[in-house]
Amino acid sequence: MNYTIYFGFGIINNIGNKKVKKGAVYLVGAGSGDPELLTLKAYRVMQQADVVLYDSLVSQDVLEMCAESATKIFVGKRRDNHALPQQDINQLLVTHAQAGKCVVRLKGGDPFIFGRGGEELQTVAENDIFFESIPGITAASAAASSTGIPLTHREYAQSVKFVTAYKKTNAPNEDFKEMLDPSQTVVLYMGLHRLKDLTQGLIQAGRDRETPFALVSQASLPSQQVLIGTLDDIAAKQAVANLPTPALLIMGDVVNLHKQLCDYNLVNLGIQQRFTEQEKNVVLAI
Ligand SMILES: C[S@@+](CC[C@H](N)C(=O)[O-])C[C@H]1O[C@@H](n2cnc3c(N)ncnc32)[C@H](O)[C@@H]1O
Repeated sequence: MNYTIYFGFGIINNIGNKKVKKGAVYLVGAGSGDPELLTLKAYRVMQQADVVLYDSLVSQDVLEMCAESATKIFVGKRRDNHALPQQDINQLLVTHAQAGKCVVRLKGGDPFIFGRGGEELQTVAENDIFFESIPGITAASAAASSTGIPLTHREYAQSVKFVTAYKKTNAPNEDFKEMLDPSQTVVLYMGLHRLKDLTQGLIQAGRDRETPFALVSQASLPSQQVLIGTLDDIAAKQAVANLPTPALLIMGDVVNLHKQLCDYNLVNLGIQQRFTEQEKNVVLAI
């Protein structure tokens, strides 16, 4: 592949001439918000889109990296407020692709991790439409990197589990027995509004109440905030701090590495201005 990449003020201006297909759907992971976490492939396809269907977790900065001429349609879901029913979104993909457009379905994080990407592509496949899936950086990876919490570590966690706080039909996920292994990091998506229930349920099921616990709000964005505590006290800390969504919950001994790895990481990414020292202490000390 023969890409020419120009970096001007940190922005990629051109990544080559490989053309997208028309009458096709590209399922694209927009990553967790920081536009620099987008893949080059995602960027190339977004630059050639005719129609972009995007969700609420797609940041404005990322959306602005799509072709200016593309028709941009918000189809996002917010808690208890679905902009469009899922079957209508599926149908929109089909309709625009059948009209000969290059359709980009842009979803926050990775579309195949709690993103309904599979369901949408099933409809596209059933209609014999060309499709391609382009992964994105899921919130767990972004939050791990930007807070200095490695999800696995040979000393502390031999596996990691991604868990949704809700099942289909919005029923709460209460499979606490599946989250008790102390050598496993558990990352909970969509759990902020159930923080108290989740932590109490885990303690009752037998997880050590002193298990280190992190709440990462708006990971990878300039507004990122982190709350560190234990399974026992994180809900009380959040009742005071009231960090906003989207937020991810990380449970396990690896959370203890945050103190050692956080600053180094912020410096490495050139984003140490995300918090002043004073702000950082306030957030971490609550
Ligand atoms: C419907 S899921 C979508 C997950 C997405 N497909 C991904 O791979 O990250 C939405 C949940 O992802 C998490 N999330 C997404 N973006 C986030 C971010 N920037 N910071 C923290 N959590 C985030 C939150 O738990 C949020 O409730």
